[in-house]
Amino acid sequence: MSEITKIQLGQNGPMVSKLGLGCMRMSSVWGELTPDETESIATIHQALDSGINFLNTGDFYGAGHNEMLIGKAIKGRRDEAFISVKFGAIFHNGQWIGLDLRPVAIKNFVNYSLTRLGIETIDLYQPCRMDDSVPIEDIIGTIAGLVEEGKVRHIGVSEITAEQLRKANSIYPISALEIGYSLADRQIENDLLPAAKELGISVVAFANTAEGLLTGDLQAPLPVDNYRNHFSRFQDDNLVHNLEKIEVLKQMASNKGFTPTQLAIAWVKEQGNNIMPLVSMSRRARLPENIAAMEIVFTPEEMNVLNTTFAIGAIKGGTYLQR
Ligand SMILES: NC(=O)c1ccc[n+]([C@@H]2O[C@H](COP(=O)([O-])OP(=O)(O)OC[C@H]3O[C@@H](n4cnc5c(N)ncnc54)[C@H](OP(=O)(O)O)[C@@H]3O)[C@@H](O)[C@H]2O)c1
Repeated sequence: MSEITKIQLGQNGPMVSKLGLGCMRMSSVWGELTPDETESIATIHQALDSGINFLNTGDFYGAGHNEMLIGKAIKGRRDEAFISVKFGAIFHNGQWIGLDLRPVAIKNFVNYSLTRLGIETIDLYQPCRMDDSVPIEDIIGTIAGLVEEGKVRHIGVSEITAEQLRKANSIYPISALEIGYSLADRQIENDLLPAAKELGISVVAFANTAEGLLTGDLQAPLPVDNYRNHFSRFQDDNLVHNLEKIEVLKQMASNKGFTPTQLAIAWVKEQGNNIMPLVSMSRRARLPENIAAMEIVFTPEEMNVLNTTFAIGAIKGGTYLQR
C-alpha cells in the first residue's frame, strides 16, 4: 500500500492525511448492530500504519462508544493520530431528537469526550450543526475558551451555510468545514465551497459515495427493508433515473480499471488541495481500494463527462443532506 499524501489543515494548521478515516459506522448510531470491534480497531491501526492520521468521530456516535473505541485504538499511538470530534447532537433510543449547543453543555461535553478518548486535547472540535437557539458567537466563543484552556487545538464546523461560515470565522479562525459532498451532492459549489476556499478553510468532505449510490452496487427496486427507502433519491422513478447516471460512472471505472467508488472518491479529492475525502471504512479490506483512489487522475475529457453527467440537479431526490 502506498503512503498517503498530507495536506495542511486550514491556513496555518498541522499536516493531516489527504484521506480521512470516518469512524461513525464502527458504532451503532441509528440502532443497528455494532460492527466487530476487533476489526474496527485493526482498521484504525492499519489506517495509521498507512499514514491516515485524520480520524473522525462524534460524541453521539454510539452514545460515546465510538470515542471509547478510538481511545482504545490510539492507546500508545496518540502522536500518530489527529482526532476530530463533533458534538451537539442529542439522541434518544437511536433517534436524533435535537441539538444542545449551549455554552454550559459544550463545557460539559468536552470533558466526557476527553475521558472517553483517553487524551488531554482534542485536535479538532466542532458543533455538528448550528441552530438559532444559541448565538453563533456563544458557540464559537465557548470553543475558543476551550482552546485557551488547552482542551481543544483547532475549531471546525459542520453542515452550515456560507453566511454562518463567514460569521464563525470572524469570531475565531475556523480550520475545517465538514460537509457532505460528492458527485451526487454538489450544491455546496454555489457558495459554501468558494467561501471556504476564500477563507483558507479546509474542507472535510463526507458521504463521497452518496449513501452507496455511487458504489454502483445498487439495483432498483431496493429490498423493502433497506434504510435507503426513506430517502426520495432511492424511491421509484428517481432511483431508476439515478441508476442510469451511475452507468456512466460504472463504464468509466471499468475503462480505467478502477471501481465506481474509487472514482467517486477520486473526483472529490480532485476538487482542490484543501479538500479531504472523509470515507467510512469499518473493515481493513476497504483501505487498499480507497487509498489507491487517491492516486487516480482524470483526463480533462473524463472530468468533463463526470461534471456534465453529474451536474447540480442531475441526481433526482435527496437524502438527509437536504440543502
Ligand atoms: N458531519 C456530518 O454531518 C456527518 C454525517 C455523516 C457522516 N459523517 C462522517 O463522515 C464519514 C463518512 O460518511 P458516510 O459514512 O456517510 O459516507 P461514506 O464514506 O460514503 O460511506 C458509506 C458506506 O460506503 C462504504 N464504503 C467505503 N469504502 C467503500 C468501497 N471502496 N466500496 C464500497 N463501499 C465502500 C462504507 O462501508 P463500511 O463501513 O462497511 O466499510 C460505508 O458503509 C463518517 O464515518 C463520519 O465520520 C459526518
